[in-house]
Amino acid sequence: MISKEIRQKYLEFFKARGHEIIPPAPLVLAEDPTTLFTSSGMQPLVPYLLGEAHPSGQRRLVDSQPSLRLGDIEEVGDNRHTTFFEMLGNWSLGDYFKAEQLPWFLEFLTKELGLAKEKLWVSVFEGDKTTGVPRDEESLAAWQKLGIPKERIFFYGVKKNWWSRSGEPALMPVGEIGGPDSEIFYEFADVPHDPKFGETCHPNCDCGRFLEIGNSVFIQYQKQADGSLKELSQKNVDFGGGLERLVAAASDNPDIFQTDLFLPIIKRLENLSGRNYLQDPETTRAMRTIADHLRAAVMIARDGVLSSNKAQGYVLRRLLRRLLLFTKKLGLEASGDYFLGLISILAESYGDIFPDLEEKKAEIATSFREEADRFDEVLKSGIKEINKVPMIDAKTAFYLFESFGLPFEITEEIAREKGQTIKKEDFQKEVEKHQKLSRQGAESLFKGGLADQSYEVTRLHTATHLLHEALRRVLGDHVRQEGSNITAERLRFDFSHSAKLSVEELKNIEDLVNEQIAKNLIVTETVQDLSAALASGARAFFREKYPERVKIYSIGPSFSREICGGPHVASTKELGRFRIIKEEAVAQGVRRIKAVLENGGQKIF
Ligand code: ALA
Repeated sequence: MISKEIRQKYLEFFKARGHEIIPPAPLVLAEDPTTLFTSSGMQPLVPYLLGEAHPSGQRRLVDSQPSLRLGDIEEVGDNRHTTFFEMLGNWSLGDYFKAEQLPWFLEFLTKELGLAKEKLWVSVFEGDKTTGVPRDEESLAAWQKLGIPKERIFFYGVKKNWWSRSGEPALMPVGEIGGPDSEIFYEFADVPHDPKFGETCHPNCDCGRFLEIGNSVFIQYQKQADGSLKELSQKNVDFGGGLERLVAAASDNPDIFQTDLFLPIIKRLENLSGRNYLQDPETTRAMRTIADHLRAAVMIARDGVLSSNKAQGYVLRRLLRRLLLFTKKLGLEASGDYFLGLISILAESYGDIFPDLEEKKAEIATSFREEADRFDEVLKSGIKEINKVPMIDAKTAFYLFESFGLPFEITEEIAREKGQTIKKEDFQKEVEKHQKLSRQGAESLFKGGLADQSYEVTRLHTATHLLHEALRRVLGDHVRQEGSNITAERLRFDFSHSAKLSVEELKNIEDLVNEQIAKNLIVTETVQDLSAALASGARAFFREKYPERVKIYSIGPSFSREICGGPHVASTKELGRFRIIKEEAVAQGVRRIKAVLENGGQKIF
């Protein structure tokens, strides 16, 4: 069974059980100040898991969410880890619970995908003394009732059977939600246990015999300031299953790179290189890494990101440069139509859900080629630089990485040729030392961090709406939001405008914003159909794909109306004083304003 069918069957299966099929969030979160990419299906749904009504009016939702996780980037190359993946997800927002969720997913696996029940193993939460969350007897009973024998039910603690965006309870920041979970694993009976991973095999063993194919999280707790967990007012189900892994299980082949999602790419790499995918571990690893990184890079570029040294652009660059390294390892050049050929394959296989790829593929291929050229330059100057130093240590490796963009892998290889060794951990330590400055930047966000909903960020978020409207009123209706980024210290707003702003224009904008703040305008939130919201003149960020029902934040009776996920302050009084600290060009026809809020303001709620 191929991926398209499984994705469709899943959506239909839950639709038939009262779920609304919702459009997935974009992969690239242009509006989110602290999270670069969507990394799970629940991420865009947090407000609704907390109790807010979903704009669709429904309490049962289902979707397939394009997601990216960079925490495992080094593990890519084995038969089951990827950076990009599609997460099939279904949710109960305080509606059904364990007694429905577990039988439904089992039914989907056995009846719809035809998986043999004997090959399915499950895990259940064993309970946790520190937080007082009890052992999950309910899930245990449900599995037994469904005919899963005791021998195939395993109990694990917070490290394996607890899910939140930041992991186990101790790691959850205040306000974060999570709960115990119950996972299903598919057993590949032909894969022998590898004692390297422990004496006996079990579902969470890393030897590859078992593959986790679905996780039902029972989100019912919220972390408190005193470290405890409080029960949420509603008990939610947050289910996620990787489409790629479900396809592997349905084909009883433990190698996801041999499923229809990757095989055409692998075949092309075989043709180009004249090597066989399985001929030796190095070749296999290289082809898998290229296939994975290519797909992830294309999905990022599809959302309009270009490679750069910052945020999403930096992740794209890192993926492309790793891909280029492995391309070289296969003895291939990324020249001619190397990229276009590979991207065309993806455009075809994702034609049903991402039809725009066909249109964008040539442009994406050109931008990847340009990155390949830049990387070649980096390699040349970096290698020249290396040859000047007598001894290559971790510090040098970091210097070469930081100043010339030379990847650690290259430096390590050159060092090895010279009979020297550098430890990856030492290099990593250097990276960490220099990371303080980029705490808000790309590296610290790799693991799919949390949206910063701190009060400072919320205030700047409301100020951003005021600024957006003020820009249009002072400069004209051509002003369109091109991007924004907020940290606890400042806001940054990019917009279309061709000329440098005059001192007078800047002052008028600043004054207009401060006048609104002084008026103590109330910020209100409403929910409307997208078409009605747009027709009524609510501002939207054109690059974002919105669902059919959207939230609109209005400031005052008529100053600003903008489609937005929030959160915002209750009244502009809370903003204090708005000050523009910088105005500059970021690209042809795009200007950037940085601004801060001064004088604290006053919190209303
Ligand atoms: N949110 C859960 C996960 O990402 C389902 O695994």
